[in-house]
Amino acid sequence: MAVPALAVAGGDALRKAPYPAWPTISGGDFERVRKVLETPGWGGSSPPVASFESLFAQYHDAAFGVAVSSGTMALELAMHALGIGKGDEVIVPAHSFIATATAVCRVGGVPVFVDIEADTYNIDPVRVAEGLSSATKAMIPVHFGGVMADMDRLGSVATDSGTVVIEDAAHAHGAEWFGTRAGGLGMIGTFSFQNSKAMTAGEGGIFITSDEGLAGKARSIADAGRLPDKGWFEHFEVGTNLRMTAMQAVLLGSQLERLQDQIRLRATNFGRFQRELEGVPGIDFQQAPPGATVQTRYIVPGRISESEFGTDRDRFVAAVQAEGVPVRPFYPHALYANPLFDRQPHRVLPCPVAEAGTRDSFWLPMNIFMGTRDDAADAARAMAKVHEAYKRSGSDKTNGSPAV
Ligand SMILES: Cc1ncc(COP(=O)(O)O)c(C=O)c1O
Repeated sequence: MAVPALAVAGGDALRKAPYPAWPTISGGDFERVRKVLETPGWGGSSPPVASFESLFAQYHDAAFGVAVSSGTMALELAMHALGIGKGDEVIVPAHSFIATATAVCRVGGVPVFVDIEADTYNIDPVRVAEGLSSATKAMIPVHFGGVMADMDRLGSVATDSGTVVIEDAAHAHGAEWFGTRAGGLGMIGTFSFQNSKAMTAGEGGIFITSDEGLAGKARSIADAGRLPDKGWFEHFEVGTNLRMTAMQAVLLGSQLERLQDQIRLRATNFGRFQRELEGVPGIDFQQAPPGATVQTRYIVPGRISESEFGTDRDRFVAAVQAEGVPVRPFYPHALYANPLFDRQPHRVLPCPVAEAGTRDSFWLPMNIFMGTRDDAADAARAMAKVHEAYKRSGSDKTNGSPAV
């Protein structure tokens, strides 16, 4: 049977229609923002911000929330609230967005990079234990792509070593570990509401905790060192201004109402995608540990085995993109390979899995799973088409070019 020519080699793209745009608004969003604009309270001390903070925190099984300007600031706030400072070590995964590590540097701490698990792409609890030292104060698991890190095993390491767990849940709004939501398992949870995130106000973030003392300290730091019931010009901490606006808070409240449906939609469509790819060798996707009972699929990482699939990750990405599916290569390097660490104190444990991921892994953005099941199946069909073409070119000995 003739193999259709790949779009990358001049054939027809399998998919011409774009995937659903993100972010989206609901019918009531303009009205919610308009109502805020008609009040004098647009800022961070307004009722909409307080109400979103408690709604979001409770939804994520925590008692208190402090809404801030970004996920990066939520992580830095966690460092300040815990009193992490000069020379204190914090264990972080070798792969994440840079803020997971630089939050530690920004308070004079030392990030300790450890490897991720090959199947979950999350921080490996065995490597976390190996990274402990007498200077370790905390660990920051990232629930990568919205699949929870193994909070039971990490929790045991933390308890045995007296280490605090800060969950970086920037990818994991609504994710669950045995029924408890992301951010509610560690001492502190932090989230991002940046433009691409599964809940967004363009920018924004939140710090959540069930520890009243930590919540009070974080709120004071984020609000110029003020204390509740004290004067506007009375300052009790070396604070700063991290406050979120009321316009952001009402948009996020609206998105929280839609979150569950969107998570379910992505789960259904991801299932359809996986079924369509059954039998295609050499391509594997992120696995969820048994405790990760709700996975949000904010991004879906996967890897290519060149020998089984028929081509390497870079050719795969280029060919699938040309078919109309917005797959992206994984991070170009592990976090510690960023130039800033040429001069910044840090420690690195061997990270062979993370290093391999820079060469063989890729990810799919969530909007592939936010249309119809057929939209999601198209992404799988494009991958199967690429495999067929390269498999044939391999057997025809055409020097690695796809069959056309
Ligand atoms: C894992 C992780 N942590 C933290 C952040 C920082 O969030 P923000 O962009 O809102 O500062 C991001 C954002 O990309 C992220 O992916």
